Amino acid sequence: MLNERILSIQNELQIAEIESEEMLETFRLTYLSKNGVIQALFKEMGSVPPESRAEMGQKMNALKTLAQEKFQQAKSKLEGVQSDSFRAADDISIPADPTPAGSLHPLSITHRDIKQIFYRLGFTIADGPELEDDFHNFTALNFPPDHPARDMQDTFFVRKSERPDEDDLVLRTHTSPVQIRLLQKTKPPVRAIMPGRVFRNESVTAKSYFQFHQVEGLYIDRHVTMAALIDTLVKFVKMMYGNDVKYQVRPSFFPFTEPSIEMDIWWGDKNSGKWLEILGAGMVDPNVLQAVNIDPEEFSGYAFGMGVDRIALLRYGMDDIRTLYENDIRFLEQFPL
Ligand code: PHE
Repeated sequence: MLNERILSIQNELQIAEIESEEMLETFRLTYLSKNGVIQALFKEMGSVPPESRAEMGQKMNALKTLAQEKFQQAKSKLEGVQSDSFRAADDISIPADPTPAGSLHPLSITHRDIKQIFYRLGFTIADGPELEDDFHNFTALNFPPDHPARDMQDTFFVRKSERPDEDDLVLRTHTSPVQIRLLQKTKPPVRAIMPGRVFRNESVTAKSYFQFHQVEGLYIDRHVTMAALIDTLVKFVKMMYGNDVKYQVRPSFFPFTEPSIEMDIWWGDKNSGKWLEILGAGMVDPNVLQAVNIDPEEFSGYAFGMGVDRIALLRYGMDDIRTLYENDIRFLEQFPL
């Protein structure tokens, strides 16, 4: 039967090995020439009952294509011109070309870990602009008009305005203005962290840079206490540095918190270690709540702000903050994906 002949030729084609010019020519004569077996099949089309002609025609054409492909493939191989697809098909065990993968910047990794911890502690994430006005960066945060932090020495002024109806524009010197923006658009209770880049007009050294990163935290509700603040901060350092981390809380001062504290962790071993400050915090000053029309008699809250660069330097044992900003590929490649 025609059908069986088609199948058996198909089998032959599939297992045929063509390893020399002679074999290639034999293959051509057997399957592809005018006197070949496939042409012979086409010649018998006349004896096929009309209803199965279309089907048979298709099968024969497929057979012809298979033979042509096989021929071309063997020919190219013998000529030594292999196309890529043939090469891949020849040996599927060849490893793929390595694709260089990127890695995460140490600051991104540190940001991610801090965010994950506060996410577990019930904080949402908020964001604000890097270009701020004087009101959000200073005034609403209870900085007196002549406060030294507004000085040209610390702050990059983008616009110093003489007009009374126009606010100065600054590169934010901390992430605390995001507290103000958040409270302007959300009514308490509010519990959020605000990660971001900040800028200070400082000289560039191994220890200081004109830009760095902070994560701000804010919790405003009825009956928020200092004990709740310290509890949250202790949970944070334990989740970040392990349960046996040694920490201390000291009194401090910020215009926008009262009372204010700072937290240090002990870095290094017993004898050669030292206390390192990692964050500032405190109870939100009633003046700040009033600046965003929240009644300090009804609501209270805490805020904290931590330096991300410092935390990243510590965890990776680095001693020069500038390496975080140089984008040296040899440095960046050392960090995991
Ligand atoms: N904004 C302060 C700083 O940049 C940190 C801080 C945030 C302190 C919130 C108290 C509360 O140093």
